[in-house]
Amino acid sequence: MSTAKLIYDGKEHELSVIEGTEGERGIEVAKLRQQTGLVTLDPGYSSTGSCTSAITFIDGEKGILRYRGYPIEQVAERARFTEVCYLLIYGRRPEPNELAEFRESMTRHTLLHEDMKKFYEGYPPGAHPMAIMAAMFASLSSFYPETDETLELNILRILAKSKTLAAFSYKKSMGQPFIYPRNDLSWPGNFLRMMFAVPAEEYEVHPVLESALNLLLILHADHEQNCSTSTVRMVGSSQANLFASLSAAICALWGPLHGGANQGVIEMLEAVQADGGDCGKFLSQVKDGKSRVRLMGFGHRVYKNFDPRATLLKRAADQIFNELGVNDPLLELAKSVEEAALKDNYFVERRLYPNVDFYSGIIYRAMGIPTEMFTVMFALGRLPGWIAHWMEQRNDESSRIHRPRQIYMGEQKREFSDQGTKVL
Ligand code: SDX
Repeated sequence: MSTAKLIYDGKEHELSVIEGTEGERGIEVAKLRQQTGLVTLDPGYSSTGSCTSAITFIDGEKGILRYRGYPIEQVAERARFTEVCYLLIYGRRPEPNELAEFRESMTRHTLLHEDMKKFYEGYPPGAHPMAIMAAMFASLSSFYPETDETLELNILRILAKSKTLAAFSYKKSMGQPFIYPRNDLSWPGNFLRMMFAVPAEEYEVHPVLESALNLLLILHADHEQNCSTSTVRMVGSSQANLFASLSAAICALWGPLHGGANQGVIEMLEAVQADGGDCGKFLSQVKDGKSRVRLMGFGHRVYKNFDPRATLLKRAADQIFNELGVNDPLLELAKSVEEAALKDNYFVERRLYPNVDFYSGIIYRAMGIPTEMFTVMFALGRLPGWIAHWMEQRNDESSRIHRPRQIYMGEQKREFSDQGTKVL
């Protein structure tokens, strides 16, 4: 084990340095305050590791993303989403019989408790589906209390019912009747049918849409300690149940700087299009800083090179559009914006590249999924990752409740004089 030396207040302190299986190194500071009276300060945690983890590896400099050691490019091409759920949560690929059983169980638990349908009635038609999803996930704990014995089944219930909760929130917003799941369909196929079927006619799952959704779900399945995954660990560290922890993660994902960015990208492109489609004019607004406009779908805390998911999604968008015969001017506009930004010093200097959100929304749009549902789609994909991290922490005997310190910068001690205001 190598060490680092801290010299402070005339004393030398030796701190151990931990090295990960991919060569990442970190100074262990758990005992720093005990040894030196000092804490570290790192708002936004740019240089702070919250845990060790064996689930996902990212190399932001090289644009590498691996799920349990498997390169995302291979997983995206060869796996189905249900197998990726198993891989992330249980740490290995399932045997064919295990996968069949896992898929069968997930299919069997797709229905919601009928009483949950009543919750949807209380929402106004314009309710954002992320508000509904966050509330519904917390409410699942009322129907399926969590114990050591029920946890495994509850994981299956979550992975199975998530698509129903999401599709029902869409149907609610459309004022259409809920469509019940069918047991002969794949996870993506079941979701698409619950979203777009109407009682009056049969709905055939389009193979191109089914395969596109499978890809999108896989590419969103995990991404190590991002904001929402760190949230699921934070809430889980108090031993709150899995449903509550996932509800908190959904709320964290909703923000436009995180999972809400895919909705932001489409709104941004539509605004550029409405303003004449002038990429240069828009990028100047982004750069001048005055209008506080950001190039949504660009930039990343970790990737200082291409986000491999964006590369895969850009290729998939072309393929899907050709196969569907869709011609969306926003795709061409997105490519022009990307091309202009990648040549512009402002973005090059800051190492800002397209991230997963830049092209995902355009594909959801081609699938007929409304913009307000885009972040819900991100959540559906990220569920196995959130669950995997929650379980990894739960199974780690050394894990403790997350309770960061601070540096106080407020008023020093002062008298609260009696001004006769204490009227009871
Ligand atoms: C996701 O963490 C994950 O892994 C997340 C995610 C996952 O899978 O879970 O990958 C999913 O959330 C992707 C990111 C989606 N968000 C967006 O696309 C929103 C737009 N991007 C940004 O707001 C920003 O890039 C972040 C939030 C993604 C990252 O922010 P950082 O790391 O805190 O970077 P920063 O805000 O400190 O920016 C550094 C500089 C600043 O300029 P200066 O103050 O140095 O002059 O880059 C600029 C920023 O103004 N900048 C941008 C920009 N992103 C950063 N300028 C214009 N447009 C942008 N998009």
